[in-house]
Amino acid sequence: SYAPNRGCLGKIIAHRGASGLAPENTLAAFEKAFALGARAVEFDVTVSSDGVAVLMHDDDLARCSDGVGPVILKSLTQLQALDVGSWFGPEFAGERIPTLSAVLDWALEQGVKVNLEIKPTAGWEQPTVAAIVDVLQNKTPSIDALVVTSFNALAMDLFAGRMPDVAKGYLTDAVPTDWRQRMAQWGCVALHCHDPFVSSQLVQSVHDAGHRVHVFTVNDPARAKMLFSWGVDGVFTDRPDVLLKECADDL
Ligand code: G3P
Ligand code: MG
Repeated sequence: SYAPNRGCLGKIIAHRGASGLAPENTLAAFEKAFALGARAVEFDVTVSSDGVAVLMHDDDLARCSDGVGPVILKSLTQLQALDVGSWFGPEFAGERIPTLSAVLDWALEQGVKVNLEIKPTAGWEQPTVAAIVDVLQNKTPSIDALVVTSFNALAMDLFAGRMPDVAKGYLTDAVPTDWRQRMAQWGCVALHCHDPFVSSQLVQSVHDAGHRVHVFTVNDPARAKMLFSWGVDGVFTDRPDVLLKECADDL
């Protein structure tokens, strides 16, 4: 089906929410991003031991919660008993790990666009993708409001096989020379790549191939301005407040 806005997230995408100002991958971080004016968010999704899709960047709980050990060994109940706010600041004490389902409900309600990054613990691609598909089958955002990505090729294979109609992005650090084939393999509509590997020439080539370019992670407004001058379609940032203000003329 023809959808010109497919994969369009807008220019400012709050990375793990407004993660420079609130604990990453929590509703507090998404609400903060929205309050600051961001209308797109990126977040990382893994799975609980009982098969529920939840938000967490790391395989292990230590950095962003008061728990320890692998996320995938804990049930949803155990995960949601953890405090994922205090590590960031006392004002966020009692913040809970959100389910994918709850975050999608919030995004749909607010009209916020979403980049769902599948972040499976290696070896747990199948249950992670199954849990995500489970949620998306019951509440599919409109075709131009969701882009699914993963660094993990097996997760991309599994997801593309299950949900061919959902817009996908090719997520990579360095951009391999065969990016065209890799994007085609999963029907990707956008290239999501690491800031140091972007050039104006790359942006031109990706656009010529009919795809968007989204760059992570950009917190310096001068760099964001340069990327926008090259035609970059969107940047992931921990500080949507700074970029929305300093790059107002570029948006
Ligand atoms: O999806 C873009 C970016 O979030 C990828 O890196 O480690 O922040 O998930 P990371
Ligand atoms: Mg991410």
